[in-house]
Amino acid sequence: MQTLTINTPSCASTIYCGSGAFAARTALLNRERLFVITDSNVKKLYGGLIEQIFGNAPCHVLPAGERSKNYRRLMQILAAMLSAGVTRSYTVVALGGGVVGDIAGLAASLYMRGVDLVQIPTTLLAQVDSSVGGKTAVDFNGVKNIIGAFYQPREVIVDPMFLSTLPRRELRCGLGEIIKYGALDSDIYGRLTAQDNLFDAAFLEDMTFACISHKAAVVCADERDTGGQRKTLNLGHTTGHAFELYYKRRSHGEYVLIGMYYELFIAQKTGRCAPEYARSLIALIKKVIKKVPAFADAESAAGFAKYDKKNAEGSHISLIAPGAVGGSVEIILPAEEYCHYIAQCRDSLIQEEDKHA
Ligand code: NAD
Ligand code: GLY
Repeated sequence: MQTLTINTPSCASTIYCGSGAFAARTALLNRERLFVITDSNVKKLYGGLIEQIFGNAPCHVLPAGERSKNYRRLMQILAAMLSAGVTRSYTVVALGGGVVGDIAGLAASLYMRGVDLVQIPTTLLAQVDSSVGGKTAVDFNGVKNIIGAFYQPREVIVDPMFLSTLPRRELRCGLGEIIKYGALDSDIYGRLTAQDNLFDAAFLEDMTFACISHKAAVVCADERDTGGQRKTLNLGHTTGHAFELYYKRRSHGEYVLIGMYYELFIAQKTGRCAPEYARSLIALIKKVIKKVPAFADAESAAGFAKYDKKNAEGSHISLIAPGAVGGSVEIILPAEEYCHYIAQCRDSLIQEEDKHA
């Protein structure tokens, strides 16, 4: 098991990562003072383990899926905590993917102005990214992650055993964030490009700690996302979130990969990314999703980029795109120009499809 600690002005958050982390760390929790939050799929798969490890601790189960990450479900969690008699000496345990982690984290930050939080991520995406760093949120009025708080978990327990039940599609979502880290970190990029099977379990375990280490360093430097470093973690997300908001059909991690592809196109068109490097990142993306969708109404979907928190002011769209190995670039474009490039990218995907038809 490997450990690392994120020290920020608000607290120390320790990450325990590797096989055996779940058994070793949960044995130290006080079962009498826990409030567990999970989702229906995780409960179905791990209900026996939850009972064995957390005993009679109250367990709040959300319906699985992004649709649960809302204000109404948040209020239900807080009501359940109150009726279970949760006090300040309790710890909230978030056992699940990024949806459970984000909403449970926000509930922990609000209840009695903050109770301890332990994140136990069970998806690859949550293990490599969302459980670490203290961003918590719910979606509101159709806008993603618009209500939230920075609230660091006391600890994050990352155990690869949970990935054995994860559908391949969810592995793809996690790989979306891993490839994002590849675009930000030359060491991760080198390891990704040298690896044939990105889905290999041992490889994913190595990648998990590498991504967490990258994120931990960024969060230590810029916990509140005000210094410029943390926004690099949003690479591919401006377009990814816009498509996610508009289409709703796929999962966050898939949209991150698709967003990265479209933003790579813009980076090349604006001369911010060398074609050779862009080709190598596209090859990585295509190892995970064979076919990048040529969304028919990509232009309208791109209009939703204005809701991205980076674009809260003005008529320009800011996006973080790959620049060179190990480095990202921020590209700021007038909204119409951004939508124009998105449409051009879509058209180039259609041409490619026609060529191969
Ligand atoms: P998710 O939580 O919806 O999980 C995906 C699916 O996997 C769900 O159906 C879930 O029930 C199931 N699942 C969970 N663990 C499983 C297991 N071990 N075996 C089988 N099935 C399992 O989605 P996600 O991809 O984990 O997270 C996406 C969310 O994370 C989005 O809401 C996104 O906005 C958020 N996010 C937050 C941050 C952050 O910094 N806070 C970063 C990235 C993403
Ligand atoms: N996932 C982006 C961040 O944590 O800042």
